[in-house]
Amino acid sequence: MIQKNISLLPYNTFGIDISAEYFAAFSSIDELKNLLEESKHKNKTIIGGGSNILFTKNIEGFVLKNELKGIELINEDENFFYVKAGAGVVWNDLVQYCIRNNYAGIENLSLIPGCAGAAPMQNIGAYGIELKDAFHELEALHVEDGNIQIFNAKDCEFGYRESIFKRKLKGRYIITSITLRLSKNPEYHIEYGAIKQELDKMNISELSIQNISQAVINIRRSKLPDPKIIGNAGSFFKNPAVSEAQYLFLKEKYPLIPAYNIAESSDKKIAAGWLIEQCGWKGYREGNFGVHALQALVLVNYGGAKGSDIYSLSEKIIKSVKEKFNIELEREVNII
Ligand code: EPU
Repeated sequence: MIQKNISLLPYNTFGIDISAEYFAAFSSIDELKNLLEESKHKNKTIIGGGSNILFTKNIEGFVLKNELKGIELINEDENFFYVKAGAGVVWNDLVQYCIRNNYAGIENLSLIPGCAGAAPMQNIGAYGIELKDAFHELEALHVEDGNIQIFNAKDCEFGYRESIFKRKLKGRYIITSITLRLSKNPEYHIEYGAIKQELDKMNISELSIQNISQAVINIRRSKLPDPKIIGNAGSFFKNPAVSEAQYLFLKEKYPLIPAYNIAESSDKKIAAGWLIEQCGWKGYREGNFGVHALQALVLVNYGGAKGSDIYSLSEKIIKSVKEKFNIELEREVNII
């Protein structure tokens, strides 16, 4: 059913109340194809869980919500299970399904908001793991010709919160399913400091994917605002990469600056939350929006804020980080 001029408030975790000219959800490939026919010469915006979007204006044309469901074990070999999920499956439901069945590899990605189909789009990551580490392939429908194409990990050109679908192929394909490759022999990743501390706090002596998932859930709940209570889209900015020289220069001045190595590069990734906090923004509030008090990387809507106001706040933050540290922050959230 196509609805006209409806509010997108229930469909974005930032809780922005803007309207879509047309809105429809699809739960089968046939429905999707029909909607693409109906919306042929109009602008199309595809959404899943709406958890990585900041809407700044009313949307012209169609907003199409992906509700393709289903989780299925499609194959297994000596070392791996291959699990296929509809793009509209809630990501954390997929994670919990894998944990219940002892399919290892995505336990560190527990509780990330959003849908399975959005996971490869920005190569979601947390606590030392990225989607690409457990990715097998995905199916995507070509918006123009309606054909379904398979993309393996290499085709997706994954990077830090990046893939080909955010860049070269932006708007050209709709991801319809993803297939993960999950291990029968778990390799536990607890090197990310906070996980070890949390496991100790939980009195865990024997590691399991169940325990790691619970530790990650506890950490996320303690730091990140629940979008059901305070509107937000997780990290608003990416952690910026700087050259080794710039890092050493900064470290001299700010010995506590948190930095991470980047595989196959001498560049360092700097914690953007720290940079923003140093500029005095942590807990900043302007009317009904601001910067989260427990994690400065997260911008929040206390209710009724406009997307354009939150966007303006992000501009001010970028400017002040640039002035203080000479680092240009990049937004992680999609601005529409
Ligand atoms: N920090 C501060 N002040 C802050 C926030 C962080 O000093 O206000 C410092 C922390 O003390 C720590 C460092 O910055 O030393 C890193 O903080 P944290 O572990 O919270 O992680 P992050 O780098 O801020 C990234 C991801 C998160 C992911 C966590 C855990 C990005 C853009 N964000 O945040 O992902 O959950 O690591 O792996 O890479 C998301 O993408 O939406 C997201 C929440």
